[in-house]
Amino acid sequence: MADKAKINIGANEYEVPIVTGTENEQGLDISKLRAQSGLITLDVGFKNTGSTTSAITFLNGEEGILRYRGYPIEQLAGQSSFVEVSYLLIFGELPTQKQLDQFSHDLRVHTLVHEDMKKFFDGYPSVAHPMGQLASMVCSLSAYYPKSLNPDPTPEDRYMTIIRLLAKMPTLISWIYKKSIGHPIMYPNNNLDYVSNFLRMTFGNPAEEFAASPIVVDAMNKLLILHADHEQNCSTSTVRVVGSSHANLYASITAGITALWGPLHGGANQAVIEMLEAIKADGGNIDKWIARAKDKNDPFRLMGFGHRVYKNFDPRARIIKKAADDVLESLGLEDEILDIAKQIEEVALRDEYFVERKLYPNVDFYSGIIYRALGFPTEMFTVLFALGRLPGWIAQWKEMREQKQPISRPRQIYTGPNERPYVPIDKRG
Ligand code: ACO
Repeated sequence: MADKAKINIGANEYEVPIVTGTENEQGLDISKLRAQSGLITLDVGFKNTGSTTSAITFLNGEEGILRYRGYPIEQLAGQSSFVEVSYLLIFGELPTQKQLDQFSHDLRVHTLVHEDMKKFFDGYPSVAHPMGQLASMVCSLSAYYPKSLNPDPTPEDRYMTIIRLLAKMPTLISWIYKKSIGHPIMYPNNNLDYVSNFLRMTFGNPAEEFAASPIVVDAMNKLLILHADHEQNCSTSTVRVVGSSHANLYASITAGITALWGPLHGGANQAVIEMLEAIKADGGNIDKWIARAKDKNDPFRLMGFGHRVYKNFDPRARIIKKAADDVLESLGLEDEILDIAKQIEEVALRDEYFVERKLYPNVDFYSGIIYRALGFPTEMFTVLFALGRLPGWIAQWKEMREQKQPISRPRQIYTGPNERPYVPIDKRG
């Protein structure tokens, strides 16, 4: 394989290195092109720009492949747990039993959130969106752990910052939920595993015993694993960009949470259910909504459809569709929304507009249906995505800092006015 490419600009020729990944993906390294030629490259939305090399997640959008550290997502979702996958993403290898026991233990003993932080929740109106609250709470953790502010901590201090964040996130999320419905918060029970503890704090109440059903624990593990990393997407790139200024982990993850909030990214899972509800309320006329999605004069898009990199199918969507069926069946539930979703998928997959543009259901198309079946209100969906994505964000932040990457600072092509003299206000027309 060639390791250099030639770029001709006018009469000049420049040589740029070709970087090859372990799956033979190739990219032109143009980092020195401006110094050589005076030109930058322009790629609005980074549609064809690699921002880093990374050894965490491999994704082939054409073939619908997703692997964490080399392990296929199908095997991880089918056989692993969220805690084990978190370890794999962050530390690079599947843990031995001893390593997993230690990691799980460390996560269990750091689940408590500082009592003072409970007061923060009192300041929010009950209608406050959970994502805004989560971002504030995660950033606020930095106030309680000043060692996390050190850009060059000892490995032990960095480990503790990571552990605290992973361990406290479920507690914070459950408290956000409890406050939103006006119920007393629940403290963690550290005898329980990560997911069971989270479900107990969310759906239990202090006066009663609570044990999450194994079906629900299993579905939740699966969903979290499927969301755990997705290479250089919008929120992950945000985490890396913010972290590249040596901002602390809590601040960097906060930025990821806010990036995830948007309906074109993590917020899509909420938007999908709202869309399906609207279609149901409108009489369930699928064709009408498909026509709206295709109409360029109508801003409506089929939420949960399309993906920047998957142009064949999203392997996560396949797993989630089956999981949605299994969960509803095991819990003995029926959901008209699931039927509408399946009908839309069927119609869209045969429709020329969607086929031509390679628009397929993405991870968010069916995830909301499971969250609903498990009892989560719509506004909590994106927060659950954030919980799942947390180990991926951490792994990417850690990798970026360990690679000693420079501060992220893209360039631009300026298209504004040329220099002009200031006009005093009484002389302006
Ligand atoms: N419904 C209708 N048309 C669509 C949709 C959709 N969901 N998605 C893309 N298109 C059309 C566009 O209008 C465009 O058509 P054109 O070529 O005729 O102009 C073409 O398909 C390409 O779309 P882009 O927006 O250029 O693709 P991009 O890669 O920039 O966007 C995105 C990807 C944001 C995911 C887009 O498909 C979308 O908005 N989907 C709906 C929101 C959603 O589900 N987001 C979740 C993504 S997964 C995640 O973040 C976890």
